[in-house]
Amino acid sequence: MPAETIAIAADHAGFELKESLKAALEARGLTALDLGTASKDSVDYPDFADRLAGALKDGRATRGVLVCGTGIGIAIAANRHRHVRAAVCHDATSARLSRLHNNANVLALGARLVGPEVAKDCLEIFLATAFEGGRHERRVAKMS
Ligand code: RB5
Repeated sequence: MPAETIAIAADHAGFELKESLKAALEARGLTALDLGTASKDSVDYPDFADRLAGALKDGRATRGVLVCGTGIGIAIAANRHRHVRAAVCHDATSARLSRLHNNANVLALGARLVGPEVAKDCLEIFLATAFEGGRHERRVAKMS
C-alpha cells in the first residue's frame, strides 16, 4: 500500500517550521507534498493556502499542514474552500479535539507562537487521531 501523502505549505514566517515538519512526516513513513514556500523571502499566505486546498481537492494529498506566523491567516484563507476544515492548534489537546470533534483535514500552526517540539506533538496527534463521528457527524456535514 503506498504511503499516505500529506500536503504541507507555509509562508515565509512558517518556512523553517515547515521544513522540520516535513522531515517529521517523512520520518514517520509518510509522503510529504511540499507546496512551498521555498525560502524566508516574503510571500502572501493566501497563495499557499490556495495551493494546499487545490491539492486536497484534486486528490494529490489526503490531509494537509499549513504554517504561517500565527496559523490564523493561513487557516482563514484555507477555510474559504468548502472542502477544507483547517484547525489552528496550539497544543496536544486542540490537535486531538480538532480530529475527534471537527474531523479537521488541515492542521494550521503558528511558527511564532509554538515551538518546534509542540508543533511536532500537534502533528503526531493530528495524524494519529480518528474522527469520533456520532453526534459530530451531523455538525460537520452542515459545513460542507
Ligand atoms: C506574516 O508576517 C504574518 O502576518 C503571517 O505569517 C501570519 O501570521 C498571518 O496570519
